[in-house]
Amino acid sequence: MPFYAKQRLRRISLTAPGVVMINSSIANLPNEDRWTRLNITLHWLIVVLLAFQFFIGEWMVAFFDGGIEGKTMDALTVTFGYLHVVIGLSIFVAIALRLWDRLAHGRPPHWEGEPNWASVLARITHFGLYALLLIMPLAGLVSWWFSNEWIGDQHVLASNVLMAFVALHIAGALANHFWFKTDVLRRILPGQGRKT
Ligand code: HEM
Ligand code: HEM
Repeated sequence: MPFYAKQRLRRISLTAPGVVMINSSIANLPNEDRWTRLNITLHWLIVVLLAFQFFIGEWMVAFFDGGIEGKTMDALTVTFGYLHVVIGLSIFVAIALRLWDRLAHGRPPHWEGEPNWASVLARITHFGLYALLLIMPLAGLVSWWFSNEWIGDQHVLASNVLMAFVALHIAGALANHFWFKTDVLRRILPGQGRKT
């Protein structure tokens, strides 16, 4: 088999180091190469909650400013304002739970042969996502509780940094799937979790 063909197959195979699998299928992935079902469920729950959190962000800004200035606010602003607090804290709980699950059960390995720059970039991105999703709700809570505008500004700034990390993360997932042709994207999809 030509060298380049071997390399390509090795990328597809996430299992047994050094073993070239002719027809690697996600169905054959062993448990330790999969995420837990809890982790996958929480991953996609967080995606949905985050999308909504950004959608109602503008109302939270109005709710926050209105509260400081003592203004009367319309029902939508008040509802979405409180919802922002509840959803933000739910995201905090969900990401903390994911982190606990990752520490308790481990995460699937990075694929064999992943270029060094790609694994470094992935690790930085993942660290950034965890850190921001843990710190942001706390900063939001403190700014809201104490009507602290400076911390509120940092919270808004952090939301932009989070967007940049999410964009990088999605680009990485798509690059894995379409460019490197690995199972990395497939194994985070619902239904691909550990069997036990
Ligand atoms: C990971 C969770 C969270 C995310 C991603 C998030 C994201 C955002 C976004 C996108 C905005 C609006 C930015 C803009 O339109 O300019 C915002 C504003 C705000 N959020 Fe959050 N938020 C989260 C959690 C929370 C929590 C738990 C609280 C409070 C308990 C909170 C309090 C606030 C406040 C007070 C503002 C207005 C800040 C200002 O206008 O200076 N956030 N947040
Ligand atoms: C929108 C907000 C998102 C956040 C905050 C987020 C966050 C995360 C986190 C924290 C991990 C775990 C990494 C680790 O523990 O090492 C992860 C894994 C993963 N995410 Fe996301 N994600 C988001 C959206 C997406 C989307 C839209 C996709 C697909 C296009 C995606 C694809 C993946 C993949 C493939 C993995 C597994 C990476 C691996 O096995 O190395 N994520 N995500």
